[in-house]
Amino acid sequence: MLINKFSQKTAPLFENFLAYSRQGIGAFHMPGHRGGRGCEPLFRSLGGELLHLDLTELRGANLDQEPDFLLKKAEKLAAEAFGAQRTYFLVNGASIGIMAAFLSIKGSAPEVLVARDCHLSVINGLILSGLKPIFLSPVWVEGLSCLPSEEEIQNALQEYPEVAGVFLTNPGYHGIYGPLKKIAALCHERKVPLLLDEAHGGHLKYINPAAEEGSTVDADLWVWGTHKMMGSLTQTGMLHLGSNFQDLNAVEEALELLNSTSPSYLLLSSLDSTRRQLYFNGQKMFTRAAELGESIRDKIRGLQGLKLVDDRFLPAGYGIDPTKIVLSLTPAGWSGIKAEEVLRKRFHVQPEYADRDYLYFFISYAQEKEEVTALIQALSSLAAEIGPDQIKRKDATPPPWACKPLQLSPREAAERSATCLPFQEAVGEIASGWVAAYPPGIPLWVPGEEITIEMVEWIRAFQRMGGYLRGIKEGKVKIIDY
Ligand SMILES: Cc1ncc(COP(=O)(O)O)c(C=O)c1O
Repeated sequence: MLINKFSQKTAPLFENFLAYSRQGIGAFHMPGHRGGRGCEPLFRSLGGELLHLDLTELRGANLDQEPDFLLKKAEKLAAEAFGAQRTYFLVNGASIGIMAAFLSIKGSAPEVLVARDCHLSVINGLILSGLKPIFLSPVWVEGLSCLPSEEEIQNALQEYPEVAGVFLTNPGYHGIYGPLKKIAALCHERKVPLLLDEAHGGHLKYINPAAEEGSTVDADLWVWGTHKMMGSLTQTGMLHLGSNFQDLNAVEEALELLNSTSPSYLLLSSLDSTRRQLYFNGQKMFTRAAELGESIRDKIRGLQGLKLVDDRFLPAGYGIDPTKIVLSLTPAGWSGIKAEEVLRKRFHVQPEYADRDYLYFFISYAQEKEEVTALIQALSSLAAEIGPDQIKRKDATPPPWACKPLQLSPREAAERSATCLPFQEAVGEIASGWVAAYPPGIPLWVPGEEITIEMVEWIRAFQRMGGYLRGIKEGKVKIIDY
């Protein structure tokens, strides 16, 4: 049935495209697989009716209106549901929203304040926009980088009053979030746009109504990776604008520049449907996820050989998302990387990520109880076993990021002629590219930054442990060729 009334109870884009696809209208348009008929049989048999939804803009499905009529309606419902002035659906991950954020503020000043624990998409946004970052040092919690302090931001705004914006990541990949309200007030007072990478957030308000998020502090712009925790399909996200954001055209032009001209209506439908699900069931979904997370924490907290990152390590005002579990088995002699391999191969349990020290588990509202039990058993076994790594480290150490002014902006560095050098020989050189473990995709160095001996040693140690880094090809990294 076609929907032409728009309320939170409807998912107009999803439902109208589904209704259209069921009408049996002969298709002489893209995509070429014709509702899956043309796909390889195995792929077709797995796709079922979802393949019928793999469409792009069609006037018929859009109630005979302009091609993005239903997309705009669906985005308007999302803006209402999530407390934004305007919301844009993203089909190329939170990454594209972050890049668009930088493009939309370029021009007002040459520099931007950026929390150093930023994702690679931030570096890409800086290259595209030409903005030069002034890096803000994070607050460190047990070797994990978190939202910079209010004082750090205040000092930076005093030193650099003419910046195009303040860009922060909150919560981090690890789920630790910080106090945003006072930071937002500082930015509002100085009329500096506050832009947030909330790729791992958005759901916190369902768990803790006091958690300070983009919508509750009226940030100027915040980006969600909706697919990460909130249930929409992979690659989907949302970009939200707060009530102060003036230049909607700049955001729309940036998204147009970066987006495909054939966005997947399957992915957009998933966002529309997820908005409805969150609106009516968000509280229930995330209460369940948080309870599962807490039940795991309760069972593993006292285990010898295991260190759980929890509230007792956090500074005042910081919190940890109960649906993210970060722990270390180094007291039992397991590096995060080795423990991940054993968990997967021996116990059939796959964490989200592992690094030198930590294992990261994301707990979903859709998690089965049996999976949770299996995880607790696996962790209990590993914590009781002596691991091979003999590191016995008590404390995780932060990676050796430099928070010094860059020699060149990331765009200037990316535009210079480059050469490749074995990473061991790159000390003292200016990077032309970046190096990062992925996930979480926080660069060890960025284009325009000097490569230090500490960074090279960190790479050596990480690789010795079996860790994989992007940005290193056949042992070489890209540097500027002076
Ligand atoms: C903090 C952070 N921001 C942005 C992104 C990019 O998100 P996406 O993969 O949806 O493009 C990621 C990806 O993991 C991330 O961890």
